[in-house]
Amino acid sequence: MTHLYLIGIGSGNPEHLTIQAINAMNKAEVIFIPTKGDAKSDLAEVRREICARYVTRSDMRYVEYAVPARRVIDRSYGQSVDDWHAELCEAYELLFGTNLSADGTGAFLVWGDPGLYDSTMRIIERVKSRGRTALDYTVIPGITSVQALTASHRIPLNLIGKPVQITTGRRLKECFPDAIETAVVMLDGEQAFSKIDDPDAYIYWGAYVGTASEILISGRLVDIKDNILQAREQARARHGWIMDIYLLRKGEDFDE
Ligand SMILES: C[S@@+](CC[C@H](N)C(=O)[O-])C[C@H]1O[C@@H](n2cnc3c(N)ncnc32)[C@H](O)[C@@H]1O
Repeated sequence: MTHLYLIGIGSGNPEHLTIQAINAMNKAEVIFIPTKGDAKSDLAEVRREICARYVTRSDMRYVEYAVPARRVIDRSYGQSVDDWHAELCEAYELLFGTNLSADGTGAFLVWGDPGLYDSTMRIIERVKSRGRTALDYTVIPGITSVQALTASHRIPLNLIGKPVQITTGRRLKECFPDAIETAVVMLDGEQAFSKIDDPDAYIYWGAYVGTASEILISGRLVDIKDNILQAREQARARHGWIMDIYLLRKGEDFDE
């Protein structure tokens, strides 16, 4: 049976890799590296650098594959994601059939942690349930961008004894500032923070967190949101792409 390692590689800093991740990489015969076009070539480059640093077996094979863009026209968000997973499922079946023997071992280097806003596990489950490739898999945890953000800002994720909501820009208004004191926002293409006018809200924003290009801005949201919008736009223009994340907070430890 084919065995796959879905390895969390952290959020862009090659030093985020755990020893467990490095050992799993070296158990694989093939490492699959996703490419997402020229604009995001830096992300494939980080994976190549991780391989160059940590792979010790001389017979390792690397297979790069293009990730199809998610189609969004004429379908709901849910349908769009489902169609994309179906497309990737077929692509993976082909990838495994072409590059792995029936009892071969492969590895995917998954950004951050495979359990947080990532589809790899779901797509591999789909491949498994279709039954055309006999496979099993192991998940290796990684440092998420949430942890990278809070570490870089030197802040605790939660207020003492309080919950945290992790959400997307699209759904932020459902929870912050009215229902929760701490929200972490990922995958925000609309800069949802800019629509919040609560004078008591603080923001801890970061782009390319954990990497050499890291940008951090923090302060009272209403005072600095324009600075963040400007910094974000400039960074995106400079790099050709951006990955940003932020934590919004209202209140303090020991507030009741
Ligand atoms: C598809 S999700 C992947 C999350 C990843 N699995 C994790 O554990 O962090 C991509 C989102 O993660 C966040 N992200 C990932 N890496 C980041 C980084 N180095 N700096 C800032 N945000 C990052 C951004 O919000 C981005 O839109």
